[in-house]
Amino acid sequence: MTRHLFGSGRLTPQIVREYYDEWHQRYVDGFGEIFQAARMQSDDALMQHVVSACGMKEGMRVLDAGCGIGGPAILMAKLGNVIVEAITISGKQAVSAIQSVEAQGCGSRVNVTEGDFHHVADIFGPEHFDVVVFLETVSHSHDWPRLFEEVCKVLKPNGTLYIKDFFLMNSDDPLMMEQIRVATVNTNRYCRLWIRGMEELIATIEANGFVLESTTDLNGMVFHDIGRGFTTANDLDVYEGGDRIGYLDWRDLTFRKK
Ligand SMILES: C[S@@+](CC[C@H](N)C(=O)[O-])C[C@H]1O[C@@H](n2cnc3c(N)ncnc32)[C@H](O)[C@@H]1O
Repeated sequence: MTRHLFGSGRLTPQIVREYYDEWHQRYVDGFGEIFQAARMQSDDALMQHVVSACGMKEGMRVLDAGCGIGGPAILMAKLGNVIVEAITISGKQAVSAIQSVEAQGCGSRVNVTEGDFHHVADIFGPEHFDVVVFLETVSHSHDWPRLFEEVCKVLKPNGTLYIKDFFLMNSDDPLMMEQIRVATVNTNRYCRLWIRGMEELIATIEANGFVLESTTDLNGMVFHDIGRGFTTANDLDVYEGGDRIGYLDWRDLTFRKK
């Protein structure tokens, strides 16, 4: 899988910002408060899974890196009794998230920042967080080494890094692999992503001061109707008329800072 080109250049945070600002309402209409396709029966159940997987305890400081419109941050604050800093590259999402935080009476426990998660050490300072979560966001990064170097700086020693995302799928069948390649490249292009393999992510994170503690296969909990409903509603033909195969590998991963 090669790096995908977007217009005249490579994927950048500015391209991702423009995309989410332009597509703001379509995401709200398609996904609701949580912009994730791997779901559970309720948003509370999904976020309780995240709270438990991260070992969140009352009073911990959590960074929600790529926070959407604040739905996950609000639920983490409520379910885990934690203090959340939520950051998004999209100005429209930040405005919407701030409104939701106020409407839910969570202003003392959730703070929203418009900014680039590749610069979190400049924004929040060193060893500030007990937990950093990325919920279906890391494939928007054009620079994983830079990103996880920054994340390592803002986490306390022994802090937890939790990632829930989708990765490049592999198949021994060349025809299936070609279908996977087509759908993945189109998804990259349509959604301003650079989907890579999970092994590359793990190697990058381990090279930046972390140890992998656990991975969970989430493929059984993907609500294909949400993802496909979103692509269908917006005329995004990722399959180019082919079969609607499952072409992404959904996982969560927990790392400990050394
Ligand atoms: C698929 S949405 C998931 C949002 C949220 N985690 C949720 O579960 O609702 C991806 C998010 O990543 C954010 N994002 C992408 N690149 C970013 C960057 N460089 N800095 C900060 N946020 C970024 C987007 O603004 C968006 O909020």
